[in-house]
Amino acid sequence: MLADKDRIFTNLYGFQDWGLKAAQQRGDWDDTKSLIARGQDAIIEEVKASGLRGRGGAGFPTGLKWSFMPKESKDGRPSFLVINADESEPGSCKDREIIRHDPHKLIEGALVAGFAMRARAAYIYIRGEYIREAETLQKAIDEAYAAGLIGKNASKSGYDFDVFMHRGAGAYICGEETAMIESLEGKKGQPRLKPPFPAGAGLYGCPTTVNNVESIAVVPTILRRGASWFASCGRENNKGTKLFQISGHVNKPCVVEEALSIPFSELIEKHCGGIRGGKDNLLAVIPGGSSVPLVPAEQIWDAPMDFDGLKDLGSGLGTAGVIVMDKSTDIVRAISRLSYFYKHESCGQCTPCREGTGWMWRMMERLRTGDAAIEEIDMLQQVTKQVEGHTICALGDAAAWPIQGLIRHFRPELERRIEEHNAKFAEAAE
Ligand SMILES: Cc1cc2nc3c(=O)[nH]c(=O)nc-3n(C[C@H](O)[C@H](O)[C@H](O)COP(=O)(O)O)c2cc1C
Ligand code: SF4
Repeated sequence: MLADKDRIFTNLYGFQDWGLKAAQQRGDWDDTKSLIARGQDAIIEEVKASGLRGRGGAGFPTGLKWSFMPKESKDGRPSFLVINADESEPGSCKDREIIRHDPHKLIEGALVAGFAMRARAAYIYIRGEYIREAETLQKAIDEAYAAGLIGKNASKSGYDFDVFMHRGAGAYICGEETAMIESLEGKKGQPRLKPPFPAGAGLYGCPTTVNNVESIAVVPTILRRGASWFASCGRENNKGTKLFQISGHVNKPCVVEEALSIPFSELIEKHCGGIRGGKDNLLAVIPGGSSVPLVPAEQIWDAPMDFDGLKDLGSGLGTAGVIVMDKSTDIVRAISRLSYFYKHESCGQCTPCREGTGWMWRMMERLRTGDAAIEEIDMLQQVTKQVEGHTICALGDAAAWPIQGLIRHFRPELERRIEEHNAKFAEAAE
């Protein structure tokens, strides 16, 4: 279990005040000037060496991403950092905890990361429904301005840096980085075709990096404690601590900071009071927020909870929003409900996603009741393959993968429902 001394988010549960004074007592904003004095390249190198991979879902190496930003502006265009606080993925609930209870970690991180990538300002895009969180965040930003920590000559570093909060209107697709940029520009939140990538032309056509809240909030601690400390948690290619969010059929659902690669069993037994009804009552787990394939009980129990461990099981770490389902779950209904979510959230730009998500949901509903033919299971599988990888953004993949996981691991259950339905139908006809 991760030792308390190795935790970054020491006020994750809000036992202490979130305000500036309390944050400073916890070590935030401690001589930020000297972090900045290390220089842009040194900060990027340190973040690279820490092994930090993006905490927003895709796990892209954070330092490497920052290094794509231009070192100087050839045409006077400024650069921007956009911080993704949209957190609309079902099962994910970590960024809101950071903002509620530790907002200064995020604001200090915004300054240091923004400086490293030579950004003029950070825009924190927060999901519209997070009303209390937005209030706290704005107050924390105001406190940081009033104390001279951000703004002109931020933290007396000689660097000018602004932080703006922008409230979204509550659309899952605005969490996708280019849709977020469109939305920030005041347009309809629809993903852009890439290239150009945001580091070349992002917000207002300027070089932009989009990072998740957790990815940014951990940076000042990494710089203070050193890359090697961060890298000592987890295993090769899966370094650092991570906020896991465990929901569903465990005795004590929670958000907890743990070392990456912690075995699933330890996460559940040590932090969540075990599976409801005991280990043998576990049916399946969706380990990364709703957008990844489920993993059945027998495969997940000893698995390391990290990028590679879950990839090896045909799934993914995603946001580490771990959805636990026990044997009372109607697994077909659960996945069908997720299909409805993706259908509802599709922005409609690409035909495979716009038409496919609706088609897949309707098929899933028929499989739920058993009102289908056995061959339609394979047909559904084929349709998921026609959606996956054929769309502008990854929402298409996100809609396809949960269904693929269901077919891979629960085909007998799908067939059982169809046979049962057919038998009833035949009985009624007699
Ligand atoms: C449909 C969709 C929704 C997304 N929602 C979020 C989100 O709510 N928060 C987030 O950080 N990333 C989200 N992402 C991923 C972002 O596009 C982007 O990869 C991420 O913010 C990068 O941050 P990171 O490198 O720090 O992980 C979403 C992606 C897609 C395709
Ligand atoms: S994949 Fe779906 S959500 Fe993404 S751009 Fe295409 S239609 Fe929109």
